[in-house]
Amino acid sequence: AHSGHAHGAAAEPGGTGAATAAASCAEMVEPASNAPVRAFELTAQKTKVDIGGGKTSDAWTFDGTTPGPELRVKQGERIVVTLTNKDIDKGVTIHWHGVVLPCSQDGVAGVTQDAVWPGEAFTYEFVAKHAGTYWYHSHQQSSEQATHGLIGRLIVEPRENAFRYDKDYAVTLQHLNGKHWLTNGRRGGADLTAAPGESVRLRLINSTSEVQWMGVAGAEFRVISMDGQDLNEPDVISGQWIPVGGGQRYDVLFTMPESGQVEVYSREKPALTARVGEGAEPARLDKDAPAFDFTAYGKPVDDGITADMKFDRTYELVLGPIDINGKRFHEIPPIIVKEGEWIKVKFKHKLGAEHPMHLHGHLFKVLTKNGKPLTGSPIYADSILLFMGDEYEVAFQADNPGLWMEHCHNLGHAANGMSMMVNYE
Ligand code: C2O
Ligand code: CU
Repeated sequence: AHSGHAHGAAAEPGGTGAATAAASCAEMVEPASNAPVRAFELTAQKTKVDIGGGKTSDAWTFDGTTPGPELRVKQGERIVVTLTNKDIDKGVTIHWHGVVLPCSQDGVAGVTQDAVWPGEAFTYEFVAKHAGTYWYHSHQQSSEQATHGLIGRLIVEPRENAFRYDKDYAVTLQHLNGKHWLTNGRRGGADLTAAPGESVRLRLINSTSEVQWMGVAGAEFRVISMDGQDLNEPDVISGQWIPVGGGQRYDVLFTMPESGQVEVYSREKPALTARVGEGAEPARLDKDAPAFDFTAYGKPVDDGITADMKFDRTYELVLGPIDINGKRFHEIPPIIVKEGEWIKVKFKHKLGAEHPMHLHGHLFKVLTKNGKPLTGSPIYADSILLFMGDEYEVAFQADNPGLWMEHCHNLGHAANGMSMMVNYE
């Protein structure tokens, strides 16, 4: 398959290297296997949707709803999704946000495939390697299309569960057309059921481009997963705001109190709320309650990946208001990697609003924040949220050849040029 010697050392960024990498992306498909197949069909179409409270909105949807159908699969299954574009004029794709899959299935228009035009179809095929909470969205002019409603959830249930719970819910936070704040497509929030004593896993997915400070009122809880990846021995906490950046996922686990209701809600946006149970409304958190700190949460695991290990390459990305190292998309030199290498990326946020920086096709490990190693559970993620002044070092292994994006998941920022490539040489 992919081997260095075919192209030798001649591959240069911006030279023949780009073409080489693009070609190798198309070659990267899911190999045949005996994995059980789960087939889905999704039709991208313009629809008027009911957003609750007697209101409707124009939307671009998968299968007539936004979010589109929740795809729930089991770890290890082979996912086959046929996307048909009915009438989205500018073409459409599906990007499987956070999923580690072969490059040709990543759904980035103009990079890993052409957009699917009205009347056309495209079939995605990949094995769900990692369990977790993911989502999907069009990656053709994402800032426009995801906002118009071309989003949905992908939940990969684990083969073996590290956690036990009675109820498993997923909740999408959405800003439809930049106008309606919706939770699972409703203006009034989501109503979920659970009885006192039952344990609930709530998977929060922030599809908006803004950080949502989420509170859990009415119960103690644990953060059991970030970006779909389980945390190790998460502590029980309460009264903390969880900053969920654009594109990020946080799964919380709690037990329903005798009083009967838990509310998981955004500090700033009242419509972004999930009420679980039907009892008395719980008391809300103080506005100035502390922020959840994942850098010292749960228990460490020695996986050998540390800031002072030997890296094959190190990159420094300095983030401005809508730029990386003072440059925008086409001017930003790609991160160049070679299969098997370990790469360290240092993000420094110098100026501007927060940036949830998202990497396609790989999970990275968060090594340090502001120069200090993490002391809790290892954090493996596909994104890191930086506020002005933050510095993070992350590490990933270049183990998925192809052509990948690294961009801010404030999709307006990304459209304005806060995007770059990771290319395999
Ligand atoms: Cu959800 Cu390129 O991103
Ligand atoms: Cu940004």
